[in-house]
Amino acid sequence: MTIAARPWLDEIQAYRPGTRSASVDGSMASNESPLGASPTLGESIARALTGVHCYPDPLADELRGELARLHGVHPDQILIGNGSDELIFLLSTTFLAQGGHAVCADPAYQIDKIGALSVNATITQVPLRQWKHDLSAMAAIQAEVAYVVNPHNPTGTTRTRADIEAFTAASPAHLVVVDEAYIDFAPDPEALTAIPLVAGGRVAVLRTFSKIHGLAGLRIGYLVADAAIIAAIRKVRAPFSVGTLAQAAARAALADTGHRDAVREHTLRLRGQLVDLLASHGLHAVESSANFILVPVLDEDAFVTDLRTHGVSVRPGSALGAPGTVRISVPSEAGLELLRSALNHAYPATHRETSDHR
Ligand SMILES: Cc1ncc(COP(=O)(O)O)c(C=O)c1O
Repeated sequence: MTIAARPWLDEIQAYRPGTRSASVDGSMASNESPLGASPTLGESIARALTGVHCYPDPLADELRGELARLHGVHPDQILIGNGSDELIFLLSTTFLAQGGHAVCADPAYQIDKIGALSVNATITQVPLRQWKHDLSAMAAIQAEVAYVVNPHNPTGTTRTRADIEAFTAASPAHLVVVDEAYIDFAPDPEALTAIPLVAGGRVAVLRTFSKIHGLAGLRIGYLVADAAIIAAIRKVRAPFSVGTLAQAAARAALADTGHRDAVREHTLRLRGQLVDLLASHGLHAVESSANFILVPVLDEDAFVTDLRTHGVSVRPGSALGAPGTVRISVPSEAGLELLRSALNHAYPATHRETSDHR
């Protein structure tokens, strides 16, 4: 007989990643950067390769220092992780294990749920209101940790910094985790970020290099929080979880502000075109501040299958806790043309007139 997994793990549904289409341009299921990573990365990674026989710098001190300067905090307030997903699991282990209670939105970012359930915590999900976090309803839940994903995944909606500040004051949560994976695609990231709230001691902000910097395959993200929160998490982290190449790549990505600006400009422009394209097919997207849009559809399975048949993969909403919708990542220019042609084939004009998918 094989060993049984801990009984509370029965509640967890394993993460279902997005599927890829035959082409990179047609893959719109995982919110990856359609412009790739900075072209300067190759040189930095080649230099770092000479050191891969040694363990990496456990705390990524150089990167930490650069991020601390960027965000105006002390380096001890930053922890680098193997993607922000690793940091989400560490937050659960540190602050929720054995009977903790977390609150998040419904739908939630799947890893927030999996992280909490994996350590036998309770998680209360509060339905969105008009596609946004219902922060007043969330503040009524007696939880130790609250998750706010801003912009939210899978809707792309935002709450203001003032909203999050008021929520932190009203909520009994000792820790409010604000996941800002998509913040670079919001209209005014500086005005939106919760990093200025970190100084109050109860807000922790997650960022990732996977989205605007296009480093999803290297796995690197970070947490900005009170130094005591970071020190607690450091006790339980795997010391070498962030590899030498990822550290070098992240530093090069940070330095290439031109590439970052180009990805932002592309994403905002193509997001508008994507919204217009879908509207011309009677499909009305939720207003998004992220690098994806969520679209209510009449028949989610049929829509996903029809597009896949024509070379485009999108994410079914039911895999993200939002049945009756699909999530479409902002594509490359070529990807948008693929999607246009897929929609024209799958939903010719006669169909369009009869189907308002709201
Ligand atoms: C809200 C949110 N947080 C975190 C992540 C994961 O980021 P990372 O690649 O740094 O683990 C994602 C990835 O899709 C996300 O949507």
